[in-house]
Amino acid sequence: MEDLGALRGKYLTAIKGAKDEAALEEVRLAALGKKGEISLAMRELGKMTPDERKTAGPALNALKDEIDAALRARKAALADAALEERLRAEWLDVTLPGTPRRMGTIHPVSQVMDELTAIFADMGFAVAEGPQVESDWFNFDALNIPPEHPARQEHDTFFMHRDAGDPRPPHVLRTHTSPVQIRAMQAQGAPIRVIAPGRVYRMDMDQTHAPMFHQVEGLAIDRTLSMANLKWVLEEFCRAFFEVDHVELRFRASHFPFTEPSAEVDIRCSWTGGQLKIGEGDDWMEILGSGMVHPKVLHAAGVDPDRWQGFAFGMGIDRIAMLKYGIPDLRAFFESDLRWLRHYGFSALDVPGLASGLSR
Ligand code: DAH
Repeated sequence: MEDLGALRGKYLTAIKGAKDEAALEEVRLAALGKKGEISLAMRELGKMTPDERKTAGPALNALKDEIDAALRARKAALADAALEERLRAEWLDVTLPGTPRRMGTIHPVSQVMDELTAIFADMGFAVAEGPQVESDWFNFDALNIPPEHPARQEHDTFFMHRDAGDPRPPHVLRTHTSPVQIRAMQAQGAPIRVIAPGRVYRMDMDQTHAPMFHQVEGLAIDRTLSMANLKWVLEEFCRAFFEVDHVELRFRASHFPFTEPSAEVDIRCSWTGGQLKIGEGDDWMEILGSGMVHPKVLHAAGVDPDRWQGFAFGMGIDRIAMLKYGIPDLRAFFESDLRWLRHYGFSALDVPGLASGLSR
């Protein structure tokens, strides 16, 4: 057994030099496997004299243990090195910005609703809502538009179907947001300050009309409110909404059944090279109808006209969205064309606010 020293040197060197677990396993098999050199040498012990065995046995066992320990140590070292290598290769800079994911965009109409809600909220107006299928009492009668009034015809109303003998009151798709005035006053009484943005419907369809479009109603009722307050609120709104320092409004005497006196409001603008500028130039663009709420309307909504008074206005949202963002054709608003939405849409993450900016 004088070659034990050689065996030891051979295997310890091989173990040290094994580059990976597979190579190490080969070394283990060559030494300690069933037919490994150490295992075979162990078998030789049986052929020895007891005296020979006394020295060779422990020596062989010690060598076997030593190689076994060296194998384990090398295995652990290789595993550590593999982990180190993985950690180095898979290193990730967690401070890098994320990869942007494509989200949908906010439709210009929604954007403008958010913008005007922020502006009016700053002036103390809450948001009120009403149903889109509305009784003709709320849509017309309560707003001082009796059955034979010509305004009923002018609104090109969509009527809900009723079978003969159906006891339910007639309903319509609301033709304007004005019925929300009645609902809000019924629910809350006076004083009150609300806006009501939402969908309205009329039988109309061309480049500037769609059968469904959007309005925002405004209503402010208190003890002494006047046309002067209406004018200030509307000017303040236009300045904030169109993001210009200077706006000029023109109040034209008009007629609405639910206001007295009534005014249509135009904003000064210029069209040069197809480009619209608000607040300058020689053109006027009509943007809304308004007036002092008619006593009959207050009365219908359960508010005492001898104690309360105030103003109301109604504005086309699609119209002011087209003006502000230079969108030429109203019909495109409702076609759900993705290319159009990507072009005119707004980021879902930029919520309009007066401090952070309305539109960016
Ligand atoms: N409801 C009217 C329409 O749709 C707009 C309107 C005019 C609303 C005057 C008002 C108002 O509140 O005072 O044509």
